[in-house]
Amino acid sequence: MTEYNLCILPGDGIGPEVIQEAVRVLNTLAETSNEIIEFNYTYGDIGYGAYQKLGNPLPEETLEKVKTADATLFGAVTTPPNIPNYSSPILGLRKHFDLFVNLRPCVSMPHPTSKDNINITIFRENTEGLYSKVEHVDKDENGVVTRAVTERIITRKSSERIIRHAFEYAKTNNISKVTVVHKANVLRETCGLFRVVAQEVAQNYQDIEMQEMLVDNCAMQLIRAPEQFQVIVTTNLFGDILSDEASMLVGGLGMACSGNIGTDTAIFEPVHGSAPDITGQEKANPIATLLSAKLMLDHLGLTNEANKLENAIKKAMQNNMLTPDLGGNLTTAQVTDNIIRILKES
Ligand code: NAI
Ligand code: MG
Repeated sequence: MTEYNLCILPGDGIGPEVIQEAVRVLNTLAETSNEIIEFNYTYGDIGYGAYQKLGNPLPEETLEKVKTADATLFGAVTTPPNIPNYSSPILGLRKHFDLFVNLRPCVSMPHPTSKDNINITIFRENTEGLYSKVEHVDKDENGVVTRAVTERIITRKSSERIIRHAFEYAKTNNISKVTVVHKANVLRETCGLFRVVAQEVAQNYQDIEMQEMLVDNCAMQLIRAPEQFQVIVTTNLFGDILSDEASMLVGGLGMACSGNIGTDTAIFEPVHGSAPDITGQEKANPIATLLSAKLMLDHLGLTNEANKLENAIKKAMQNNMLTPDLGGNLTTAQVTDNIIRILKES
């Protein structure tokens, strides 16, 4: 028997609603697997609820639980307005565990809001760039801010590891092209370094073509002809924007999944937030979280279970088993019930 220790962080709002569905589905996958596998769950507090209860949105015990788990599944958190010194627990997790890869797959789904023939995997650098948090301001004699600066930090080390990760992914999945997105014609030093490192890394992958693309062109090409992309690798801010854009090609927030991957651990989460407008109404689409669980299964090497889950989700969608955001009238639990039924039948 193979046991997997999973840390589960439900969070706020619809986070717990979608996470509980993912746990039901994981249990079904374990029950129906040809292998003997068992998932053990450890639940941790995170987010605004944790802050209200314990005075900290990212308690030490939660960090310990993530650290000792094989992987973590995270729901969503609420950012409370106007609490000084409140810092985002997601950014905290990424930083604490040096989760340098932000993985965002965009794959066609069987729904009218999704375009066909799209299979793009975006790798976004997750630790530096314009999200360095190194900022300062100048003020005039009246204390009015006259100039604000954010440092864009690009290092050889972080560029190399994200670009290498993207090329390794392409190699493992027999993908023949990696698109490196930058703006080195203007951001000569920072994007220039990212570009040079990409060219060096690409030397080690003779069978994979490295295509360079300027970020503004990439934003346009994603709308014009998204089928041309397979793997995209880019810096933090560009990746944040391009991955949100790309998610809209395949149905948007209700289905967008992601992973934060480091050397020692990995955290998987839906892209959406805590959706206070629909919390408690059984309307939350569980698919973004189920697809995040699918990424987690892939990461754990449970490829059969990952594929089974993806196929079951697609089948349920083809049968119009949908929540209201996708035009259906089923509840969160009803959509999951259908996916579970399909898993048991397959
Ligand atoms: P949001 O993603 O929570 O919601 C945006 C819109 O999409 C809402 O109308 C919501 O009902 C809908 N939506 C989101 N997920 C859905 C799902 N699974 N099924 C059906 N509809 C869904 O973003 P918003 O409203 O900007 O932020 C709400 C809170 O979430 C804020 O406190 C924000 O800071 C936080 N947030 C947290 C994130 C995270 O935990 N990773 C990411 C984004 C926002
Ligand atoms: Mg974003």
